Amino acid sequence: MCGIVGVLGKHEVAPILVEALKRLEYRGYDSAGIATVNDGVLDRRRAVGKLVNLSDLLVHEPLTGKTGIGHTRWATHGAPTVANAHPHQSGSVAVVHNGIIENYRELRAELAECGVNFQTDTDSETVALLTERYRRAGETPVEAAFHAIDRLKGAFALAFLFEGEEDLIIAARKGSPLAIGHGDGEMFVGSDAIALAPLTDKVTYLEEGDRAVVTRAGVRIFDESSTPVSRPMKTIQVDRVSIDKAGHKHFMAKEIAEQPAVVGEAIAHYLPAGDDTVRLPGEGIDFSGVSRLVLVACGTAYYACLTAKYWFEQIARLPVEVDVASEFRYREPPVPAGTVALFVSQSGETADTLAALRYCRGKAEKILSVVNVPESSIARESDLALPIHAGVEVGVASTKAFTCQLTVLLILALKAAADRGQINAETLADHIAAIRGLPQLMNVALDDGETVRRAAQWLADTRDVLFLGRGMMYPLALEGALKLKEISYIHAEAYASGELKHGPIALIDPTMPVVVLAPMDPLFDKTVSNMQEVMARKGKVLLISDEAGLETARDGVWVTVKMPDVAPLLSPILYALPAQLLAYHTAVAKGTDVDQPRNLAKSVTVE
Ligand code: F6R
Repeated sequence: MCGIVGVLGKHEVAPILVEALKRLEYRGYDSAGIATVNDGVLDRRRAVGKLVNLSDLLVHEPLTGKTGIGHTRWATHGAPTVANAHPHQSGSVAVVHNGIIENYRELRAELAECGVNFQTDTDSETVALLTERYRRAGETPVEAAFHAIDRLKGAFALAFLFEGEEDLIIAARKGSPLAIGHGDGEMFVGSDAIALAPLTDKVTYLEEGDRAVVTRAGVRIFDESSTPVSRPMKTIQVDRVSIDKAGHKHFMAKEIAEQPAVVGEAIAHYLPAGDDTVRLPGEGIDFSGVSRLVLVACGTAYYACLTAKYWFEQIARLPVEVDVASEFRYREPPVPAGTVALFVSQSGETADTLAALRYCRGKAEKILSVVNVPESSIARESDLALPIHAGVEVGVASTKAFTCQLTVLLILALKAAADRGQINAETLADHIAAIRGLPQLMNVALDDGETVRRAAQWLADTRDVLFLGRGMMYPLALEGALKLKEISYIHAEAYASGELKHGPIALIDPTMPVVVLAPMDPLFDKTVSNMQEVMARKGKVLLISDEAGLETARDGVWVTVKMPDVAPLLSPILYALPAQLLAYHTAVAKGTDVDQPRNLAKSVTVE
């Protein structure tokens, strides 16, 4: 949700800012802008739409200077227009903001009373206006920025630039992540380490409420009460954050194709070769005394949690509650003794998931997280963070993070089963062997992309699609429908197969494609009965199953997609691949923007 960058450099900064913004564009792409100070003069350029429009503008209207800030926007308050694009400038102050200023109406009313004119519909502009007002009252840039920050309620990551100040950027963080990068005689500010990766591998993460005064000589950090504090500098693994499409047309295609490798990586971390036990980082967790597990997440990560409920309940006999973070955080749910709370998040920065985690702090016995970004807020605020090792996921629609989340959650469920005496060593070893074979099966499943691509050509012409699944295939049906709608803009719904006849069957007619996810498992016959109910009403079924399943049930089916045989426990991970490919090829056939679908952003740091 909006990306921020700041550079106190040695060279012309505009191209560096644009390059860094490219790496942040996954956070929003409604508009982009940069501001620099050159010979003391503050100036800015802004453009609506993708970053490339800003680059074009800079060719015709260059911006010089070695100090600057930049922003890529995901609109919250105010339409994506040039006026609403950041940086917002008021007199001698320019500001970029990620988050939401909740008390902006109050602040605007106060400013209006003083005769201030507003140029934008945004909440963010109030920060620049307030700071400029304090400057005019005689405060120094640092005093004025800190004073303005003190007045803000809500979530923000901010960077300030001042006229006449070529060696100063002020940054602040509350609720939205922000990192300070250390260079050689240069300093940087960025929403995440990915933006800063080509510039430096030395990063200091600001903590909640921190403000930073950044100059080329270094950074001074203050906490919420403006008391100087010291925060550790970390060396990040730059090779993990290299971003390119590796010959694929889209990041999403690359990330789908990478899954055998990254799932293999995750497996190697938690199930080291030559040992049939689960290895967790740090002190790990012992599930023997745990009486209840609460899983909380948003979107795709929530569907990973729904799948994990089946694993924890079936294998470990551990009662599980799953909730979407935005509901959990405000419901004030009881968290009884013996509860472990587990939060799943690719970015590790999702505002609702983080708030849910904070709600559980002091209530749950232990707070676990399953994250892709080990330095993220959710990881840092957990008692135990379990990285999924998926590598940077750039495509806005999550793919490899989902299968890696599932893999880690399944391994964790096995650990819980072992701790709770629900599984003997032999069965555990069998499951571990099956998991180790997963990357190979994923390679086979990806091989048959052509059938899925052909089916997608037909789906591209439809308006609505239903997905059906039973047991562990039900959450996957939800994920398949989400993937399809977010990148192809086709309306898609998912139902537990058994629910069909309780209402949704009314939708079935000859124009309605129904995707049925049904490996040959103990629930297969039941799902097939539901599929027959669809076909009896002339619905067009796309059946994704294995050889045995297709042999039994292919009659009358519109399209079949054949999957390799897989142990039932692993089927959600494997069957995710055709669901992702179906969405991908449908979107490509429709010509939508696969990696940056409309209205979406990758890291949802506002609620
Ligand atoms: C969908 C998708 C989103 C995210 C959700 C949570 O493809 O990517 O639904 O899963 O916004 O994001 P994280 O996992 O970063 O907390």
